[in-house]
Amino acid sequence: MPEEVQNIQTNATREIAEAKDLGMLENLWRKYLGRNGQLRDFSLKLKNITPEDRANGGKIINEARQSLEQAIGRRKSQLQINNSSAPETMALDLTLPATDQKINFGHLHPHTQMKDRVAEIFQSMGFQILEGREVEDEHYAFDVLNIPASHPARDMWDTFWLDAKATKLGKLLLRPHTTSMQVRVMEKQEPPLRVCVIGKCYRHEATDASHEHSFYQIDGFVVDQNISVANLIYTLNTFLAHIFGQEVKTRLRPSYFPFTEPSFELDFACLNCGGKGCQVCAQSGWVEILGCGMIHPKVLAAAGYPKGKYTGFAFGIGLDRLVMMKHKVDDIRWFNSGDLRFLRQF
Ligand code: DAH
Repeated sequence: MPEEVQNIQTNATREIAEAKDLGMLENLWRKYLGRNGQLRDFSLKLKNITPEDRANGGKIINEARQSLEQAIGRRKSQLQINNSSAPETMALDLTLPATDQKINFGHLHPHTQMKDRVAEIFQSMGFQILEGREVEDEHYAFDVLNIPASHPARDMWDTFWLDAKATKLGKLLLRPHTTSMQVRVMEKQEPPLRVCVIGKCYRHEATDASHEHSFYQIDGFVVDQNISVANLIYTLNTFLAHIFGQEVKTRLRPSYFPFTEPSFELDFACLNCGGKGCQVCAQSGWVEILGCGMIHPKVLAAAGYPKGKYTGFAFGIGLDRLVMMKHKVDDIRWFNSGDLRFLRQF
């Protein structure tokens, strides 16, 4: 019997190695290992022999069975690999020219591109670039900026208050402006200071073509001895020239912010019509772009600086508005719309 089993195993092993597809392999499994297969026939024959021979015969049959199962398994994986989509003839050839299929690369969001550009420009003028925190204390967002709780100017910032317990720094809120970083930085650092905070801000207000509840704001400030409005004008003119890629004519108009005195609104001569008046500038020749002023002495005092030692200027710019002006986008809601047709233009 051992020779007969040996013969079956030899034949089966050869046939398995030659099987051309998975179907043939399955037939071979049935032929040798299945319920009516040739090895099974031998198992039945064991009944008719002596107990010693039976034990030995059983062992031989089991070993043959195991070896054939393994051979089938090996052949099966070979056939599967050969059938897969990367036969050797199609192996990756890096020297082949690219197919004409267009590959779509993603790119940075226009906000991110502008954030990076603004940071680069201010950095080149020696400013530190900070982001600050989005969840802020009432103390830093309002109180130290000369906007106490009773002050009507608080209405200028429709605020998202957080449903959390107040601390000794007041209630928690989502910062409505990046100006809330000013005193935080001043408390930690002594002048000379040149700081630019670029980050997300939130306001509890209805959205329309020029208002979003979440937006980016740039808040810049400089503190040192003898800082004047002339420094403010020079810095902002330089910044705008870099952003728009050309010299821009600017003017200051009186305005009001609680944390600056005097306060201004800065306009630049419309780049579309060169100041003559057109649709973009509502025929005025000027486009309003940012708020600014000399830092209020109360803010410098809140930071703990000695009275009268330092002066400084500050400015706040909506980053979204900057992108809108540079690329003539007429509705702020496009930016967060997720519409790829819009985003692919940048
Ligand atoms: N924080 C102001 C706002 O949200 C903008 C601003 C105006 C910031 C004047 C300043 C500034 O630092 O000096 O409307």
